[in-house]
Amino acid sequence: MKIESVCHIYFSPTKTSRKIAHAVSRDFEDILKRDIDLTVGIPDKEVIKSHELAIIAVPVYGGHIAPTAIERLHHFSGENTPAIIIAVYGNRSYGNTLSELNSWCVEHGFIPIAAVAFIGEHSYSSDLYPIANGRPDGKDENTAVQIGQKILSFLQTCPSIDVVQPINPNKLKSPANDFAMLRFFASVIVALKIKHAPLSLAPNTDLEKCTDCGVCAQICPTGAIDIRQPSFSNPELCIKCCACVKGCPQTARSYQTPFAPILYRTMKKRKEPIFFQAGINEK
Ligand SMILES: Cc1cc2nc3c(=O)[nH]c(=O)nc-3n(C[C@H](O)[C@H](O)[C@H](O)COP(=O)(O)O)c2cc1C
Ligand code: SF4
Ligand code: SF4
Repeated sequence: MKIESVCHIYFSPTKTSRKIAHAVSRDFEDILKRDIDLTVGIPDKEVIKSHELAIIAVPVYGGHIAPTAIERLHHFSGENTPAIIIAVYGNRSYGNTLSELNSWCVEHGFIPIAAVAFIGEHSYSSDLYPIANGRPDGKDENTAVQIGQKILSFLQTCPSIDVVQPINPNKLKSPANDFAMLRFFASVIVALKIKHAPLSLAPNTDLEKCTDCGVCAQICPTGAIDIRQPSFSNPELCIKCCACVKGCPQTARSYQTPFAPILYRTMKKRKEPIFFQAGINEK
């Protein structure tokens, strides 16, 4: 099969999914590359042609595809287009994300050739509570480059997309012990509610530091920040992605969440990327 171009499709408020998507194709030579960034704004409808390789990367929110990402992905379809699907998660769990993305691809005309879970700095990571900070790092990026090369060679030696044997979907859910962790988080929420502890609905702004530059309003994926009053986030629209927190040039924004100290304490052990690949049907 000839791959003429690569299309990176990603939703990435804090840019880790985007970084991984780009690393996967970094060493592809003589292949055109383009980006469809779903982070800010609703994309036009498009069919991704079969001679393109789609590299689709999304962050994990609550063990699932980030809801805004899946809403925006619905604008795309393939025509038996090969795809590398990537879930980027903050060192807790990727839950059902790869499985959901795999099903979405199959229903929308894409053929997943590889499914990978990578670790990215957690959106809630801060200097006080670092969680997977600095990920993806050099080692992760090298892994992404190697996976990209492996999949490109696979496709180039594969006679036709019709002989691809799909990835076993049962393998794509993250291990069962995650259920215990979800129960743990649910119990924390219940305990906080009983104590009437405040759960922040959106980031706060330090008015002493804010210069009204408007950067946060421009990068907010959901329009939750009005450029005329950028120190305020509309909690009805905020998805707590922390793009504004990490993107504020004055470090004026912060998101207070009781999950940050818990994740910091419980998720210190470094996890590594996990990779699944389709095969070739010899019959
Ligand atoms: C609302 C929300 C929910 C999240 N849920 C999870 C989760 O269930 N498991 C996990 O490991 N990380 C979780 N994360 C962390 C992100 O998956 C991680 O930081 C990812 O790298 C963000 O991708 P981006 O940089 O492309 O925005 C969550 C982040 C947010 C904002
Ligand atoms: S990016 Fe930071 S400094 Fe600029 S308007 Fe937003 S909160 Fe204020
Ligand atoms: S206001 Fe909410 S949705 Fe907008 S960038 Fe900040 S955290 Fe994300």
